[in-house]
Amino acid sequence: EHAAPILVASNRGPVSYKRREDGSLAAGRGGGGLVSGLSAIGTGSGALWVCSALGDGDREAVRRTGGRLDPADTGGMSVRMLDIAPEIFTAAYNGIANSVLWFVHHLLYQTPLEPDFDADFRAQWAAYEAYNAAFADALAEEAAPGAVVLVQDYHLTLVPGLLRERRPDLRVGHFSHTPWAPPDYFRMLPDDVAGQVLRGVLGSDRAAFLTRRWAEAFAACCADVLGAEVVREGGGADGTDGALSVLFEGRTTRLGVHGLGADADFLRERAHRADVEERMAALREQIGPDRKAIVRVDRTELSKNIVRGLRAYRRLLEDRPQWRGKVVHIAFAYPSRQDLAVYRDYTAAVERVAQEINSAFGTEDWLPVVLHVKDDFARSLAAYRLADVALVNPIRDGMNLVAKEVPVVSDRGCALVLSREAGAFAELGEDAITVNPFDVEATARALHEALLMEPAERAERTKRLASAATALPPARWFLDQLRALEV
Ligand code: G6P
Repeated sequence: EHAAPILVASNRGPVSYKRREDGSLAAGRGGGGLVSGLSAIGTGSGALWVCSALGDGDREAVRRTGGRLDPADTGGMSVRMLDIAPEIFTAAYNGIANSVLWFVHHLLYQTPLEPDFDADFRAQWAAYEAYNAAFADALAEEAAPGAVVLVQDYHLTLVPGLLRERRPDLRVGHFSHTPWAPPDYFRMLPDDVAGQVLRGVLGSDRAAFLTRRWAEAFAACCADVLGAEVVREGGGADGTDGALSVLFEGRTTRLGVHGLGADADFLRERAHRADVEERMAALREQIGPDRKAIVRVDRTELSKNIVRGLRAYRRLLEDRPQWRGKVVHIAFAYPSRQDLAVYRDYTAAVERVAQEINSAFGTEDWLPVVLHVKDDFARSLAAYRLADVALVNPIRDGMNLVAKEVPVVSDRGCALVLSREAGAFAELGEDAITVNPFDVEATARALHEALLMEPAERAERTKRLASAATALPPARWFLDQLRALEV
């Protein structure tokens, strides 16, 4: 029967299960901006969240519940988890989504050697189509007449198009939590695949992005690859700030921008609980008295640029010896996508470079880099509160919520070193110290400048950063998208 008036679809859902030794299932929350933002859906909205089983624990949970997860595990949200055949899921998620599409949108390829679109790619692409079709089938089955469906991210680019074929009565939105590649880079995809991705997203009534920059890139790809017409209305003389839409084969898809912000109420409350205070005490001990802390918190993700961040820190210690023994770099690099060899190699590189810095500069009572690789949200919040400097230097990032979370919970004000290639830069650029993420030398200089920032200025800037960072809290971010589809 057709029931849900509002549906959300994403690869990763709000919980993921692991099997304990005694056979019971432990529910845990996954990282990333998508889950942070969508968790604001809450319990009262009548929304159904459709997601995929990611591993064996999840599949077991689906078997035990029939796919409707226990509300006790989801914070009361209605969640349907799909058990898509493991070989289809793996090829779609690891092969296409996280290898090809993620790499394209974050400009991560080393182009003399890769990408290499061969028979393996074609098999994975067929799996991606099947995986998208499984979502479209489930959504078509669950949606009430005229329901609103919000499809999330690069895993599900084909769903809007497929859903339109199945249920033309629905109002469909697509949201990208990543950057969108510029046309010259996007065109690396085989022509038919590039076209399919764009047509898939254009199957929605409205395609939305985290910043104007990514929306413009998407529009440019539609014009370049499909020959679609980009329509601009209102805005400045150059038409760049007004409404944007794409006209293709007689249908118009509106483009939108919703810059997901930090959830101030949740963060401030969470950051003052006892477990966070405990971890602050432990971190203070590791930092030592009279030392400043440079903090970074990331998924161990190629686009986050952790290795260059460490090299910049090394540069700082080399070029400005006054900081030796006076600063500690707290780096939290939490495991991500460990099924992919490039991610495992990257994790190893992060550990190696941190180790090298510690052996080159460490002394009996000073450990220059404190690296933690085990996920601990309370410890992240503790580090945010203590940080003198936050380093957020991604190569490219859809938004980056760490840059927004730090100023919100910082105790004494924190200087933010921020990559100009993060979506968050559009909102935070004025009060951050901006860096080109590839320029290690400049990043080292920025760290120096950040360490020297006067407390009063730090506090002032942090206040303004926090207010910009919370301008669009997750609950409103979600509601705005719903409203925009209702007109
Ligand atoms: C980014 C993506 C999300 C994804 C998250 C974590 O934020 O936009 O869609 O969920 O990374 O990655 P994972 O592969 O662990 O879901």
